Order: sequence, then C-alpha cells, then structure tokens
Amino acid sequence: MITIKNEREIELMKKAGMMVSKTHQYLKPFIKEGITTKELDRLAQEFIEKNGCVASCIGYEGYPSALCVSVNDTVVHGIPDNYKLKNGDIVTIDLVVGYKGYQGDAAWTYGVGNISEEDQYLMKHTEAALYEGIKEVKPGNRVGDISYAVQEYANKHNLGIVRELCGHGIGLDMHEDPDVPNFGIKNTGPRLKEGMVICIEPMLTYGKEDVYLEDDNWTVRTVDGSKAAHYEHTILITKDGYEILTPRLDGE
Ligand code: MF3
Ligand code: CO
Repeated sequence: MITIKNEREIELMKKAGMMVSKTHQYLKPFIKEGITTKELDRLAQEFIEKNGCVASCIGYEGYPSALCVSVNDTVVHGIPDNYKLKNGDIVTIDLVVGYKGYQGDAAWTYGVGNISEEDQYLMKHTEAALYEGIKEVKPGNRVGDISYAVQEYANKHNLGIVRELCGHGIGLDMHEDPDVPNFGIKNTGPRLKEGMVICIEPMLTYGKEDVYLEDDNWTVRTVDGSKAAHYEHTILITKDGYEILTPRLDGE
C-alpha cells in the first residue's frame, strides 16, 4: 500500500530529511584519509542523537550501525569497521534519520583525496542519473517513467545498473511501497500522487552489473571488483512536481 502523507506528516518528514542533510554536511570534513569508517559512524550517531533524532539503521533487521559506509567496489550496506580511508577511495555514506517516527534517507558518494578521472566520471554521472529520475516526479507520472529515465541516462554513459536493489517509498517505515527500480518501462507501474514520498537511488558501476552478498549478509559488492557510486534523495510529490526533502547543503 502506498501511503499519502497529510500536512502534519509532511512537516515531520521535512524535519527528518533536513536532519539527514545536516548529518551529511557535518560528516563531510571528516571524510579524509586515515579516518576509520567506524569513527565516521560514531560521529554520525552522536550528531543525530544530540539533535533529538534517531539513527534508524541501528537495529533495522539486525543492522548494527548508524551508517552504511560503502567503499570502492562495495555498492551498498558496508558495515562500519576498522578500515582506514585512503587516498583515491570513493566512499558512499548512506543514512536514515527518524524524527517523531518519520524517516528521511539519503546517500551520496564522496572522493577521498585525489580520485581518478574514471571515478569522477562515475560519481558525476551517477548523481546526474538521480536528477534525471527526479525530473520525472510529478502527479500523474508513473514509477516506470522515473525508472526509464535513470536507465536511459546510465546506458548512455556506459555505466552498469545494479538491478538487485532499488528505491522505495518512505514514511513511518524506512522502506514502504512502491519499489522504485533503476530500470524499467515508461508509462508503467504505480501512478504518482501528491503527498507520496519516495526515495530514488541509482546504484551504478564502472563495469559489469553483477553483485554478490558477503557472508555478513549485508555488504553488497561488485563481482568484477569495479567501483560503484550511489546517490539517493527523499522526495515529496507536490501538487505540480516535487520537493527534495534531503537537499545537499554543500552547494554541490
Ligand atoms: N538507505 C538504505 C536503504 O534504503 C538504508 C538501509 S540500511 C539498513 O537500503 F541497515 F537500515 F538496512
Ligand atoms: Co534508501
């Protein structure tokens, strides 16, 4: 069932989304060579809780941490550990914050130090694929319009689409209906309506599309070892378009 949020719920979702944005902004200067992914996780949890919010990933289906920190060939759900970031890594921080029960969710990929041209290409075009999807968000359009736009952009730029994972509705639950795949057919799927809130999140690779799940049952990596990028926003469907509830505060 796809939920429609009322005005009060939308206000709370805006607050949750803004806290997600602020947490990304807070973490950004720490994403440097030498810091462990676990330290980033601790900083995020403290920041979120100090601000009266909940780090919703902790305990979600048994997930142990506040952040998903996915380095290089890890696509999603990298569990923070003692790995020290190093020059040339690309790292996706994905985080979910709850405010009075309502959730906000956003991911972006950061470069550590000097990153290769290929990695810059991957990051730039994965983010652009997200915005191509977002442009399709308005009442009357369908989920397949978003999926198709992301897919076309990824294909045009020769990037692999990780198909096992997709975007989702969001509200009181982190994952609600509908699924929002990163590939699909125009004019198919559920119709978008004012008051729905969805997450669009292309996960693209600079190589093949195949991924595997590690023994920890969370970490998803590319089979060929190629790097992956992942950008995600929480988006409210408005009367005549959309509003991004997790705006980037770094002007990028
Ligand atoms: N943004 C991620 C997702 O939509 C957050 C999930 S992490 C989890 O899949 F641990 F909470 F599952
Ligand atoms: Co998500």
